[in-house]
Amino acid sequence: MVIYFQYMAKGKAKAKPSPKVSRRVATSGDIEVSTYLEIAKEIGGVQPAAAKEAIPSGEREAIIVIDFGSQYSLLIARRVRECQVYCELVSPDTPWEKIAPLNPKGFILSGGPGSVYEANAPMTPSYVYERHLPVLGICYGMQVITHQMGGQVAPGAKREYGHALLHLGGVDSPLFANVPQSTPVWMSHGDKIEAMPPDFNVLAYTDNSPFAAIGNDKNIFGLQFHPEVVHTPEGKTILKNFIYRICGCQGNWTMGNFITDSLAKIQKEVGKGKVISALSGGVDSSVVSTVIHRAIGDQITCIFVNHGMLRREEVERTFNTFRLNMGMNIIYIDASERFLDRLKGVTDPETKRKIIGEEFINVFEEEARKIGEVDFLAQGTLYPDVIESASSGSTAAANIKSHHNVGGLPSRMTLKLLEPLRYLFKDEVRQVGLELGLPEEMVWRQPFPGPGLAIRIIGEVTKEKLEILRAADWVVMNEIKKAKLYHQLWQSFAILTDVRSVGVMGDYRTYGYLVAVRAVTSDDAMTADWSRLPYDVLARISNRIVNEVPEVNRVVYDITSKPPSTIEWE
Ligand code: XMP
Repeated sequence: MVIYFQYMAKGKAKAKPSPKVSRRVATSGDIEVSTYLEIAKEIGGVQPAAAKEAIPSGEREAIIVIDFGSQYSLLIARRVRECQVYCELVSPDTPWEKIAPLNPKGFILSGGPGSVYEANAPMTPSYVYERHLPVLGICYGMQVITHQMGGQVAPGAKREYGHALLHLGGVDSPLFANVPQSTPVWMSHGDKIEAMPPDFNVLAYTDNSPFAAIGNDKNIFGLQFHPEVVHTPEGKTILKNFIYRICGCQGNWTMGNFITDSLAKIQKEVGKGKVISALSGGVDSSVVSTVIHRAIGDQITCIFVNHGMLRREEVERTFNTFRLNMGMNIIYIDASERFLDRLKGVTDPETKRKIIGEEFINVFEEEARKIGEVDFLAQGTLYPDVIESASSGSTAAANIKSHHNVGGLPSRMTLKLLEPLRYLFKDEVRQVGLELGLPEEMVWRQPFPGPGLAIRIIGEVTKEKLEILRAADWVVMNEIKKAKLYHQLWQSFAILTDVRSVGVMGDYRTYGYLVAVRAVTSDDAMTADWSRLPYDVLARISNRIVNEVPEVNRVVYDITSKPPSTIEWE
């Protein structure tokens, strides 16, 4: 849903030039819109499990990451949360009043691209030291501690990047409890510590860094390496030591607790109000709708718009899961004809996106109006979106996503946003989904773009082409799943090109469509590599497509990475 509204905002912006680098709408956590739902024909009728017995939430506690701009900052927060302690990322200019309600038990100062001795280099806010809470500085964070507490930081003779062997030495510290005497760590820094601040001790060193880990007896620590990345195998132990042994956290951040808290919060916020959500079958919209439904039952109505660009069985499966298994109140609208009508003769990819986005809003609004008075719009905003928006600098730009979403809706619909997932990472959302009883296949599905098959059909979208692509795509997904590759791949799908070529079948010449197969690995869709699929899997895909889809007589495999290509073809 999110994406559709984003299109809308984009489509409406007068003469707003498309970004040069990519024609795509920036993707969000909700790109998993309506994927192949390998759900639950077989589990039809089974009631969802109740949220697990929630561990008592106990005292509120948090670790605060002061974000100096490292590419790894979000990763630090994720790692802390994996240790079952709530963690938030804040910019160095965040006032204490905003942090205090979270009851911080310690601070982590992230890495960052700057140098502490540059003018305007970001510094740790003074409350971090004044509160006498434990502090762990990582890389730039360590250099800031050194600089602010009277040590010396200087440019390194050479940049240290990559693996190093860390040796524990100097003073023993609980920070390194259960860490072997020597262990690999990941380094990435230019500047280095020349002299520690007064009263600091060396805790560990590497060949290149005599001050690879330092600390004082006030629980202020610095690490020159990155404990948050997987290349530091003992990194999680070190972070856990900091969180539990040094900060004294209890560890009450579990998805069971999250659900319990959320249900209460949603009930309080919504009261007797009415909520609508655009259910797409993607992970975020599914989880958000489910958690709200769990909280307020039939006060939420989900609107599921079928734009006709979905894949085989997608509608039925989404519908079965939510209406039959979850008992949710869903309005299903088959608007395929409307969308197809508007897409007649359209070949430009960006125009296709715009039309689909606009039409989606039209349909959504029409349906929402029929419900009558509505107070809230449910939204699958996730924590990375919140951070992305907040770090965009201006307050006007803050909360880009909500902005777009609300902007896309008619102004007379003065809806408040209900965003119960806004502090969760994607993996946490999946966990919540599972705890709420959503099928695994739905929670772990590959992303699917909002405009659906429309941007996988090169040229005009027609009913006939949609059927051809659905049949070919079904084979791809089926074979990928049979080969147990589905979860390893970021995405795998078919594209219907507008190329026709000559072939021969039996005694006849054919002149059929060319289908391309795309399968990529990726962490975040920003970059992607084409997957080295086994030849026999490719062979089966190709054989089955040409045998099962009469209009197709040739199959090719896309072996380009992103960049320079994109994942989708349009
Ligand atoms: P590209 O093709 O730009 O795609 O490499 C990156 C990721 O985004 C998805 N994608 C979209 N998702 N609306 C969406 O909701 C779109 O317009 C759109 N275009 C691309 C794509 O499937 C991939 O996961």
